[in-house]
Amino acid sequence: MEIRVLTTPQELFEAAAEEVVHAATEAVAQRGRFTIALPGGSTPKNLFNLLATNARTVLPWDRTFFFWGDERHVPPTDPDSNYRMAEETMLSKIPVAAGNVFRIPAENPDAAAAAEAYEQSLRKFFQLGPGEVPIFDLILLGMGPDGHTASLFPGSAGLQEKSRLVIANWVDKLKTSRLTLTLPVLNAARCVTFLVSGTDKAAMLKTVLEEDAPAEQYPSKLIRPNNGKLIWLVDRAAASALTTKN
Ligand code: 6PG
Repeated sequence: MEIRVLTTPQELFEAAAEEVVHAATEAVAQRGRFTIALPGGSTPKNLFNLLATNARTVLPWDRTFFFWGDERHVPPTDPDSNYRMAEETMLSKIPVAAGNVFRIPAENPDAAAAAEAYEQSLRKFFQLGPGEVPIFDLILLGMGPDGHTASLFPGSAGLQEKSRLVIANWVDKLKTSRLTLTLPVLNAARCVTFLVSGTDKAAMLKTVLEEDAPAEQYPSKLIRPNNGKLIWLVDRAAASALTTKN
């Protein structure tokens, strides 16, 4: 596990953009394509803007395939939609073909059916046999102040899912279902990179990275790639409670 503390949020996003470019370059060179699962929330917005501007000419967009780590149970036009956020900040500004973008069909009122549909699209794209799990080149994740990541929230049933690839996870405190990749998929990635910014995450980051707390209560602790790299890109504000300052 690598923890990099960047002085400012801007430096965090620049480092994240470099990670994406590095992963994309390596994946295309080795396998002819780059598969990435995007996070939601607000932290990634600045990264997506950077990828659409500064990194625009260096990323192999035609060989890049976009997926999502999770999605709110809303239509893609909804202000809460993770897809909408990525579309507005990046996808609408880059030369990526519609066929390279695999949106979670969260407009389906039946969240379980939406999850099943997305799971089938993963099985088809990655040409998975029974029991196989997709291996993403890069999964970008955020972390909530409660320690959740993707839409795996503390105490939610989704934390126990060991065979499905995508589920509709009921989040009691939000009184809604969220669509999310499951831990087997997140931990199968070649590289998982967390992006954590801001003082509101400092206490939880210390708990997740430094304390021997029960992982079930802090789902970000459950992200331990089987064979892949785990990189934490955090800014100084988020790292302010850590004892080991990198
Ligand atoms: C979502 C995200 C979620 C997010 C964290 C951090 O759908 O909201 O996938 O897991 O990464 O909640 O969100 P912020 O970046 O907004 O702090």
